[in-house]
Amino acid sequence: MKRILIIFSHPALQSARANKQLLQAIEGLEGVKVHDLYQHYPDMFIDVAREQALLSEHDIIVFQHPLYWYSCPAIMKEWMDLVLEYGYAYGPSANALKGKQWLSAITTGGAPESYCREGYNSRPLLDFLLPFQQTAQLCGMTWLPPFVLHSFHKIKDQEALRRCGQDYRQLLCALRDEQFPPEQLAEHLYLRDLLEVRS
Ligand SMILES: Cc1cc2nc3c(=O)[nH]c(=O)nc-3n(C[C@H](O)[C@H](O)[C@H](O)COP(=O)(O)O)c2cc1C
Repeated sequence: MKRILIIFSHPALQSARANKQLLQAIEGLEGVKVHDLYQHYPDMFIDVAREQALLSEHDIIVFQHPLYWYSCPAIMKEWMDLVLEYGYAYGPSANALKGKQWLSAITTGGAPESYCREGYNSRPLLDFLLPFQQTAQLCGMTWLPPFVLHSFHKIKDQEALRRCGQDYRQLLCALRDEQFPPEQLAEHLYLRDLLEVRS
């Protein structure tokens, strides 16, 4: 069983809807640890040694956050700048993160159709995730197709809302239990597409 660490960043969890739904759905899941950066570091003063120790105890690192200005909330960037340091995460003999998997779990305000050339966001969502993908690659990590939850605020049907969380739970369980062969993971742009393959 793979051990999953969720590095969660949301500066206003009290008013969040999408991320709360996702977190509720995975509450208590065996082998999954949620690490809330804003809760641990309200002053943004990140304990690098502690974060690196946490990383070493896990195989799949999930970065769960809302998309903010086509990127991540500030604390995650601070976390990346400090924790993924030279000699630890990258550099000639750095191999602390080698072989671990990186999963971006993103919620967006923009609808799927806004993320294309003709849409108001002008580009596919994956273009905006490139800095994360390349960071994963430089650290020797395997980039997984991202889990994306678009425009949650527009979903009114209670069952559809619940299903978003359940999809997340199901996919994390499958990753934890190594149910997706690597070649199948590599074939898909989005993690949720794998649910269609399975059903
Ligand atoms: C500061 C800020 C920046 C945002 N930037 C984007 C963005 O670049 N693209 C997008 O689709 N949504 C953007 N949004 C919308 C959020 O991604 C969306 O409200 C969030 O994912 C919903 O999740 P939540 O209910 O857990 O907060 C932004 C919201 C805020 C507050």
